[in-house]
Amino acid sequence: MTERCLIAALYGSLALCALRAPAQAPGYDQPYRPQVHFSPRQHWTNDPNGLVYFDHEYHLFFQYNPFGDEWGHMSWGHAVSPDLLHWRELPVAIPEENGVMIFTGSVVVDHANTSGLCSEGQSCLIAIYTGASKTPEGGRQTQNIAYSRDDGRTWTKYEKNPVLDLQLADFRDPSVQWDADARRWVMAVSLPKEHRVSFYASPDLKQWRHLSDFGPEGDTAGDWECPDLLRVPAWQGHESLWALKVGLNPGAPQGGSGEQYFLGSFDGARFVASKDRGSHGWTNYGKDDYCAISFNGLPADQPPVLMGWMSNWQYAAKLPTSPWRGQMSLPRRVSFLRDGAGLALRQEPVIDPLHEQSSALSGTAASALLAGNGLAAVAPYELDLDFGHTSEEVFGIRLYSDAQHWTEVGFDTKHREFYIDRSNSGIRISPDFPGRTVAPLAEGRPYDLRLIVDRSSIEAYAQEDTIAMTDLIFPPSTNDRIRLFVSPAQPAKISGRLWKLKSIWEKGPSAH
Ligand code: FRU
Repeated sequence: MTERCLIAALYGSLALCALRAPAQAPGYDQPYRPQVHFSPRQHWTNDPNGLVYFDHEYHLFFQYNPFGDEWGHMSWGHAVSPDLLHWRELPVAIPEENGVMIFTGSVVVDHANTSGLCSEGQSCLIAIYTGASKTPEGGRQTQNIAYSRDDGRTWTKYEKNPVLDLQLADFRDPSVQWDADARRWVMAVSLPKEHRVSFYASPDLKQWRHLSDFGPEGDTAGDWECPDLLRVPAWQGHESLWALKVGLNPGAPQGGSGEQYFLGSFDGARFVASKDRGSHGWTNYGKDDYCAISFNGLPADQPPVLMGWMSNWQYAAKLPTSPWRGQMSLPRRVSFLRDGAGLALRQEPVIDPLHEQSSALSGTAASALLAGNGLAAVAPYELDLDFGHTSEEVFGIRLYSDAQHWTEVGFDTKHREFYIDRSNSGIRISPDFPGRTVAPLAEGRPYDLRLIVDRSSIEAYAQEDTIAMTDLIFPPSTNDRIRLFVSPAQPAKISGRLWKLKSIWEKGPSAH
């Protein structure tokens, strides 16, 4: 029973309450259960897999343990959505079998039946995944395919698997797309210990030929995992660039798992990183966004959409949630920006369809926010703030769930940093959890901030969406008192808007 229903029940008006309370899909209302992010109804998840848009439906496959809330028995879970936000979980798509776990990979739409695995004259979905098995020598990872002729509902593993085997213990996470110019499939796949992404080409998804290698380059402190190659349009303008993103674990600058990107060119066979300022950065400057991949099958005139796993291998097994463990980031439309500060990847979260009531915060509302008890908000909510080009030294916002627990999000213009500080946010699930994550501030870009606060996370987008920072939090309550701060104290010129967000698990007319 929700708090509102309980109060209504005490006053004998339960019928009224039942009428008014939003219909929540059962099983999605526990403490810390994300309300605007996907999480499986029960059990463990890590990386998103096989993101694809096909026949008016978005598919999210995900690393999944069908038997428990810890990593193991890796299989592909499955969910579908009409709009990238409202997800409906379906049965396991590709299960572990005969000791071969189904690791991360991608799904493509085989429009022309190049594989010969679709029904005559039909398109079908083909999954390309890493099969991981134990061997006396320590393990073997190979690339494999499976096909579905019924919109991803049932899958058959290809009888002649594997399709690519280098006899290696570490060789994983194939990301495949159609190259319309060369009329062939291209795969980016990781050699984690060598800090290399290998590119392969195939006419039919079965035979693969090595094209080139990228790396070691950029940050090589940990294993390279989950590569993805994206054609990225300019935010404003007609130019396009290629982005190669690759996960790094452990050893990312924020600790544990992180993801770097390279902007550059791809000629169909080789990726070359640009030397321009800003061409190397981090897709996320927080601690909790890993192994993001982009959707295949989107209309050609749409920018790529990235989605990641909202956790970190340092403490993923310790999240205090039940009966599930793990969630996905919001989907984000990707573009790039080129300005006086150089190049940067931009990520705009897909969230607007969940906007409910909003209140403007400007003039007196902003001063009310600064004073007294602050403004009340209950997760999930979004807060859009514009601090303009102010010269104050440190400014930002504190989200208090009680007097001892808060999360601070701010701009420190003296040290040229944007940050989230979750040191006092709530449950400290591991020694690696509390702390501050930082991103460098770019010269000349405005101090705008968009925060999406869910029951157990904060996603921040700042400086025209060139900084994305995602951090999990486990506060004692989801009722925040929000207070702006400026230091040294000066009259602040701040405007903004607070949006209440609809839960994706509420059954509205467009929900499922
Ligand atoms: C990254 C990763 C992948 C692998 C999967 C296994 O989080 O280690 O490299 O395919 O998880 O679950």
